[in-house]
Amino acid sequence: DRPITTSSIRKKKETRTPITMVTAYDYPAAKLVDEAGVDMILVGDSLGMVVLGYDSTIPVTMEDMLHHTKAVTRGAKRAFVVTDLPFLSYHGTVEEAVKNAGRLMQEGLAKAVKMEGGRELAPIITRCVQAGIPVVGHIGLTPQSVHQLGGYKVQGRDLEAAKKLLDEALAIQEAGAFAIVLECVPEEVAGMIADKLDIPVIGIGAGATCDGQVLVFHDMVGYASDITPKFVKRYANIGETIREAVETYNKEVEARSFPGQEHVFHASEETIKELYG
Ligand code: KIV
Ligand code: NA
Repeated sequence: DRPITTSSIRKKKETRTPITMVTAYDYPAAKLVDEAGVDMILVGDSLGMVVLGYDSTIPVTMEDMLHHTKAVTRGAKRAFVVTDLPFLSYHGTVEEAVKNAGRLMQEGLAKAVKMEGGRELAPIITRCVQAGIPVVGHIGLTPQSVHQLGGYKVQGRDLEAAKKLLDEALAIQEAGAFAIVLECVPEEVAGMIADKLDIPVIGIGAGATCDGQVLVFHDMVGYASDITPKFVKRYANIGETIREAVETYNKEVEARSFPGQEHVFHASEETIKELYG
């Protein structure tokens, strides 16, 4: 299978083929997600919550994103890797934003970057695209603004807010983004935006009529993620599998039933005789 590109992603919208995206933060997860046939891997700054144990994405740094992007891109052979620009890494000068986006590609080997926000990001998106950096937008619930939004809640519920979301989406498209993530928005609003946009709209908590779907890896496989919003579907419960495995190991070591003879190396008869007299 040939690697996914921005043009194959765009083509999927044209042919109404759903685009699949899952997050990953390390080499093994990237490898598994890639092997599963997912189109796009997102090195999300959700990293801060599901891997680093912070209670928001705000503490996540450029160095965190670079470190994890490097691991993910080593594991992804076919999937298209997008990395999040973390909190405040694209809110200074345009030059600084382009530099940070560029680092995620040049050092992290990501193929695109994602940034949260609307119309105000247009100049930054345009400069990135001019520099050869493909950009994914992200509107609706934007977790880096959680304290501004007053919590993790559904966005674009009333007519005014829905119209504003469409306006932001159009501005992001106009600025040159090749796709957009729409988070926690009523299905009817998301579907309308996907319909009005030429670029793919990838939804999370945004209903079934988007051009694609994204979920957080740890949430979808049940890997020690304790918060389960309504929009998450649990496809596995690997956390339980891991806990049981480690519990069994712990008991077996305490009971001296691990290691068994099949896990043990032996010295030669001669050496044993010398060692033990
Ligand atoms: O960080 C992340 O995982 C994301 C997705 C929820 C879209 O931004
Ligand atoms: Na994110």
